[in-house]
Amino acid sequence: MAVIADIGTVLRLTPQDDLCLALGDGVYDMCDDQTPFYFRVQGHLYDGQLFYGLFGPVLSGPSRYAGLICNILVRTDATDWRKETLSQVNFKVGPGVVTRNHHHHFGHPDGTCLEGFPRIGRFGMAEVVGAPPSTHPPTIELDGARLRPLRIVADADALYAYLRNPAVTELTSYPVVSESLVDAMIDRAASRWAAGELGKWGVALQHDDQLVGTCGFNEWSPVHRWAELAYDLAQPHWGKGLMRQAVAAVLQWTFRQDQVDRVHAYVRVDNKRSAGLLDRVGFVREGCLRRYRVCRGHPHDFYIYALLRSDWAAAQQSSRKAT
Ligand SMILES: CC(C)(COP(=O)(O)OP(=O)(O)OC[C@H]1O[C@@H](n2cnc3c(N)ncnc32)[C@H](O)[C@@H]1OP(=O)(O)O)[C@@H](O)C(=O)NCCC(=O)NCCS
Repeated sequence: MAVIADIGTVLRLTPQDDLCLALGDGVYDMCDDQTPFYFRVQGHLYDGQLFYGLFGPVLSGPSRYAGLICNILVRTDATDWRKETLSQVNFKVGPGVVTRNHHHHFGHPDGTCLEGFPRIGRFGMAEVVGAPPSTHPPTIELDGARLRPLRIVADADALYAYLRNPAVTELTSYPVVSESLVDAMIDRAASRWAAGELGKWGVALQHDDQLVGTCGFNEWSPVHRWAELAYDLAQPHWGKGLMRQAVAAVLQWTFRQDQVDRVHAYVRVDNKRSAGLLDRVGFVREGCLRRYRVCRGHPHDFYIYALLRSDWAAAQQSSRKAT
């Protein structure tokens, strides 16, 4: 079994006391939810030569942890994370990696700082597990909607209902939409995630969980570390910024998984709405692929848009500085 501190190791973190949730403006709330969550070790926390913890992206678990980084800080049971597969730890979950606060030893609750953290788990048990247990993408809450796993059978009618509207597929390379195509799309998304591959999420409204869109990846190359983004939305929900939010959340989750350095998308040159969305979330138009796809019998030129992890990280950093 992998040692606990190896990069790439998946850890299960089980909170052992109430979570302390930071609500902003110095306001905190306590929450009794000891549901475990899983994260993958992406790096070691060092201060000079001093090793004081591990950090990595959350892979699955309750949605409050989705898209965030887990930092495990202090052993409290005399085990050594570099050797043991089970260890009691202090943990902090938030948008970034903790830094040391030199006023205290890192074993002290205030011995580390996590800027802008929206949540802190205070104390828990970290265990090495072989692989992420979830065969689903995480559910990620948006403003009024959510990204959640696509459901075989249950989502088929809603997906078919909006995709059969010709306006939705007009400027895409979708083939003629049939019920069997829709079933195959949902099956494919589910089996990609089940195989540990990046796939598509469903976009559902928060108030009734009704499916109104999909967003995620058609293809993923773990070797070359790119993924191809694709999305669609029921027409009544266009122009409200919903897909922009969904794409931003998918990018945030994906880049924090450390599996992808480049996300690209192919957009028909006449699909201005989709191109506008990609511009808005920071994609760069890299070129035009002439006669790239035949869309329901007619060849079309496509733009290729891409966003690198480094572009994304720089934009995150500058927007943090601006706020
Ligand atoms: C593309 C699609 C997902 C966009 O979803 P959406 O929720 O309407 O998009 P958003 O409202 O988040 O953003 C749309 C952006 O496009 C731009 N836009 C909107 N309408 C536009 C138009 N008529 N012309 C040009 N740009 C337009 C705007 O820049 C807008 O960004 P803003 O927030 O700055 O105003 C949706 O229109 C759709 O499902 N279309 C059919 C399927 C499709 O084309 N999929 C993409 C294939 S590449």
